[in-house]
Amino acid sequence: MKLVTALKNVFVSLLLLNSCLTNANPSKESPVNASSHEKKIVIAHRGASGYLPEHSLAAKAMAHAMGADYIEQDVVMTKDDVLVVLHDPYLDRVTNVMQIFPKRFRSVFGENRWLAIDFTLAEIKTLKMTEGFELDQKTGQTKVDYESRFPMFKSSFKVSTLAEEIELIQGMNHSRNKDVGIYVEIKAPWFHQMEGKDISRATLEMIKHYGYKNKQDKVYLQCFDPDETKRIHDQLMPELKIDLKLILLIAETEWNETMRVKDGKLVPYSYDWLFEPGAMQKVVQYANGIGPWKPMIVSKESTQNNLIIMPLFKRAKAQGLAIHPYTFRKEPQRIPAYAKDFEDLLDIFLYQVGVDGVFTDFPDIAVNLIKEKG
Ligand code: G3P
Ligand code: CA
Repeated sequence: MKLVTALKNVFVSLLLLNSCLTNANPSKESPVNASSHEKKIVIAHRGASGYLPEHSLAAKAMAHAMGADYIEQDVVMTKDDVLVVLHDPYLDRVTNVMQIFPKRFRSVFGENRWLAIDFTLAEIKTLKMTEGFELDQKTGQTKVDYESRFPMFKSSFKVSTLAEEIELIQGMNHSRNKDVGIYVEIKAPWFHQMEGKDISRATLEMIKHYGYKNKQDKVYLQCFDPDETKRIHDQLMPELKIDLKLILLIAETEWNETMRVKDGKLVPYSYDWLFEPGAMQKVVQYANGIGPWKPMIVSKESTQNNLIIMPLFKRAKAQGLAIHPYTFRKEPQRIPAYAKDFEDLLDIFLYQVGVDGVFTDFPDIAVNLIKEKG
């Protein structure tokens, strides 16, 4: 039990280091015009999160109304095994949990985190949810993630369950005569397993319960853990008699997105093999597509006159894998130097490179661009 607690603490501390992003190995290749005639999809990243607090039902309804093809859910589990829609395993970035439950944190290297897995759904439902922010625990100052977005703790938002969100989307599909899909990410399955929870099985059962069973259904299942994605394909889906589209998300190893126990310690899972020749032949055995970080597809060294497309793009395309990069945001600090503006960035990925879809906080802009392009 002590080991588990220690591992948990290391895990949470590693999550805190996630801001140290590093670039993929750039390899200069000639740009290719791989524009496809297939429909490009717009995935509303945490809903229309550029306009309303991420993962609020309001943000999901707005994304639906804006014409997104799919709406994203990041899923973690509560203490009482309920699937809730939250980007992080902790609640303190988007709720007032620190004020309501001041002592219910885990202390990790001098920082305090309030983990969803330590709270029941009933407790979580007492919290107010807001736009993302960070608290400097030394100064007590809070800083919003994006100054131009929805103001902190205005109006009234709650953490929702996966079931509530699916019912919202299916309800709007009914009332608007649409077929907007769900795009569900299983968060940190290795951590949930350490806590004795099989989040992947629970998520698949929930998705099946709401009628999503085949590849033709409007659902994608995404995960940053290659071993778990393979387990979902090889074991869980056959057991549950479902066959859904799977997307393997790709992180930088240094983000510590996926961890493994080695010699009694938690170490980051290395994603390096995914950038080697032959990797996509392995991935296609169990996934239908990949979700890479943008610089894994277009090098940060690109300029407006010289777009450098990374080898991963051609290798994934050659295997027939769908490519859905993340995350497209319109704030000026989020526009790489090789793009003139947000629309240009979307155009580069969707039409000059030729990816199959984009995760974006601003689904309306991507939907309009795709409409304009016909
Ligand atoms: O799931 C893909 C996209 O959402 C990027 O990951 O960290 O925002 O969940 P994240
Ligand atoms: Ca996600």
